[in-house]
Amino acid sequence: MNAHTKKLRSAAWFGTVDKNGFMYRSWMKNQGIPDHEFDGRPIIGICNTWSELTPCNAHFRQLADRVKRGVYEAGGFPVEFPVFSNGESNLRPTAMFTRNLASMDVEEAIRGNPIDAVVLLAGCDKTTPALLMGAASCDVPAIVVSGGPMLNGKHEGRDIGSGTVVWQLSEQVKAGRISIHEFMSAEAGMSRSAGTCNTMGTASTMACMAEALGVTLPHNAAIPAVDARRYVLAQLSGTRIVEMALEDLRLSKLLTREAFENAIRTNAAIGGSTNAAIHLKAIAGRIGVPLELDDWTRIGRGTPTIVDLQPSGRFLMEEFYYAGGLPAVLRRLGEAGLLPHPDALTANGKSLWENVREAPIYDAEVVRPLDKPLVHDGGLRVLRGNLAPNGAVLKPSAATASLLKHRGPAVVFEDFDDYKRRIADPGLDVTPDSVLVLKNCGPKGYPGMAEVGNMGLPPKLLEAGVTDMVRISDARMSGTAYGTVVLHVAPEARAGGPLAVVRDGDWIELDCDVGTLHVEIGDDEIRARLAQWAKTQEDVPVERGGYRSLYIDHVLQADEGCDFDFLVGCRGADVPRHSH
Ligand code: FES
Repeated sequence: MNAHTKKLRSAAWFGTVDKNGFMYRSWMKNQGIPDHEFDGRPIIGICNTWSELTPCNAHFRQLADRVKRGVYEAGGFPVEFPVFSNGESNLRPTAMFTRNLASMDVEEAIRGNPIDAVVLLAGCDKTTPALLMGAASCDVPAIVVSGGPMLNGKHEGRDIGSGTVVWQLSEQVKAGRISIHEFMSAEAGMSRSAGTCNTMGTASTMACMAEALGVTLPHNAAIPAVDARRYVLAQLSGTRIVEMALEDLRLSKLLTREAFENAIRTNAAIGGSTNAAIHLKAIAGRIGVPLELDDWTRIGRGTPTIVDLQPSGRFLMEEFYYAGGLPAVLRRLGEAGLLPHPDALTANGKSLWENVREAPIYDAEVVRPLDKPLVHDGGLRVLRGNLAPNGAVLKPSAATASLLKHRGPAVVFEDFDDYKRRIADPGLDVTPDSVLVLKNCGPKGYPGMAEVGNMGLPPKLLEAGVTDMVRISDARMSGTAYGTVVLHVAPEARAGGPLAVVRDGDWIELDCDVGTLHVEIGDDEIRARLAQWAKTQEDVPVERGGYRSLYIDHVLQADEGCDFDFLVGCRGADVPRHSH
């Protein structure tokens, strides 16, 4: 046994010369593992979200092989294990519905097995938060290796971005500017290599968040999935996690309050997805770090968006990597004194600033100077008011500047089915100044909180050339989407938030500068309507059964991260020792 046996948790399985040790080792040996590998070396879990149903993560077995190479190189013992893979593109009703389920899988897989440290292979949107949430609850040493973005989409001689081009072209079809056949011809060109969405959608955002949080090696976020350097990074991460296991560099030493503040500032600089507000809160909750929705205003406000990527800007993740990737952004922030905690520790044992202070910046069009930003004040806007007492969010970099202060009459859809039924009705009483309101799409109302908040505009207005309108809902929005869209209204309609009682014609005022969202009806009227609404709810049939029931009963609201109430908190990796 080597000198580290005593302090590694795997010793409780493999470290004894008795009946128990015999049994734990013997069954593992059926995989052809020689005796000397049970000498007390760190057991490194490789938590793999590979699945052919998660196309963004479909290359992860090759990635895992490279991680293993690094683990062996550093004298560790790699053990790859699968967890539920919640891919965004196929899963219904939405991958968010199973984010917490996947996190439970990860947590219990780590805690229940002889794992000293873990490499988290994450890619598609919800896989990154799910893996970090599960590992954070165990507080073991962990490093994230992201799958990397797809190569640029190509269509008719131009670059097209994952997701974003779908929203753009489908609106053009509705407006009668292109045919459905022209739209469909972009299908194969949008996704032409392994990897995650190549826009600054939620997957790229969460990969950047992981890097800014310090739980990856530098450059993890942007190296394209098929670039050979992605595999080098995977191998180096495998090497590094063995050292982290021996150093006992646990997640709680990396995922500090300071790290989350760095990530929030970074999200503003990259024009990141609104989903990050939900996921960072959920990850922070699992490691015991206090984080509030208003931190996004306090820390993000005033930060310029300097990454010119779709959906807010022009370029795609491939250009982002060639321009210098996230280290280039962090360097720009740091040199301007905008990195809140440059000394925050990262997975390679160095501070964030040590990692990025000499980062090259190759293209100032993609990673723009702070005095030539894409958006001067790019942080997510947190909105409050009588329509969202516990908050709502809006992404100004993806919005129309002239609509950020707006007052208009509500056009209300009671749920997404109601929206689909009536939005194309030529008789719909709607003008470009109207405010589209969508209810019952929050965590409980549309379990999983679907990405329908960027509801398409009425076709008759699209045909007239309208390109954006104020939209308000308790839903989420794809990170690849855009528009003046107020999301995550809390409490949601189904939970009895005031959103539930907005009616057609109520005037709504949005002021992003001040951070307010009001419906112009008095408090007494809201109370009276809510009392009336509560009575109608008694007769609403509730679909029960299975995981769906667990979800509806225990999911927290958007401002609380949509985790399950019983999963919040760090429970550590200890497990009562089992004797055969
Ligand atoms: Fe998987 Fe976009 S659908 S990253």
